[in-house]
Amino acid sequence: MALQGHLWIAVNVFVFVVIFSSVTAKIKFRDDIYEPRVVSLSDGEKLEKELNRIRRESSKNNRGKMGVSDSHVEVHVNTFKNKNHKQAVVHWSGSDSNAIFLLTREVIDGVVNSSSLYRSLNYGVTFDEITPQNSVISSFFVDPNNYTKLIFADRKNRAVYVTDDEGKTLSGPHRTQFNPQRLVFNPILENVLLGYSYTQEQLFVSRDLGKTWKKLQDGADSRFF
Ligand SMILES: *[C@@H]1O[C@H](CO)[C@@H](O)[C@H](O)[C@H]1NC(C)=O
Ligand SMILES: *[C@@H]1O[C@H](CO)[C@@H](O)[C@H](O)[C@H]1NC(C)=O
Repeated sequence: MALQGHLWIAVNVFVFVVIFSSVTAKIKFRDDIYEPRVVSLSDGEKLEKELNRIRRESSKNNRGKMGVSDSHVEVHVNTFKNKNHKQAVVHWSGSDSNAIFLLTREVIDGVVNSSSLYRSLNYGVTFDEITPQNSVISSFFVDPNNYTKLIFADRKNRAVYVTDDEGKTLSGPHRTQFNPQRLVFNPILENVLLGYSYTQEQLFVSRDLGKTWKKLQDGADSRFF
């Protein structure tokens, strides 16, 4: 049995390292699923610009369908109540998605000290706060194959929060034994991902969308991640 377990891990690592790194270019990820973007909050205009960019893109994709006009949206920066949060991470998944995620954060010496998480279902006109209690979300990761699946990483408390319905429900905290600095979704196997800690050089794997983790390797080389 132990051998089989090792074999399974070996196969999985193979799938990740070889197939993922060499075939990624050939696998057609949905290229309209954007990476989260970081904007400064000290200048409210930058956030407005980003939200208006999303609005324009969405109106291109959904002309007539969702009633999104090209009109400008004014962002009321006061919505985001914590004045120490000088930075925002903004994400919209594109095409048929109508959810925008916005993570405001206080970064001290490169480390996120506090943060708040918001979701908008009307292209940035209003935001609802969905910050999990006692969390310090530092970043989040979107499944490139299925944008309804997102993982929010809390490095300070070594935990993740998981959604598979685009933030309607959020489960967690799911404790990670490692500092969840980088999460990589497997492009083929559903709900399988690698978790990597640069500081600990440890590699973990999850088969249930981040809810439980198993250590694969110590002293893992960060070149692959
Ligand atoms: C970090 O965040 C905590 C909780 O929000 C706050 O009490 C503390 O003052 C912050 N630390 C610094 C150095 O600002
Ligand atoms: C994405 O994941 C959700 C939740 O598991 C599922 O209901 C949906 O069918 C998936 N969509 C695709 C395109 O795989």
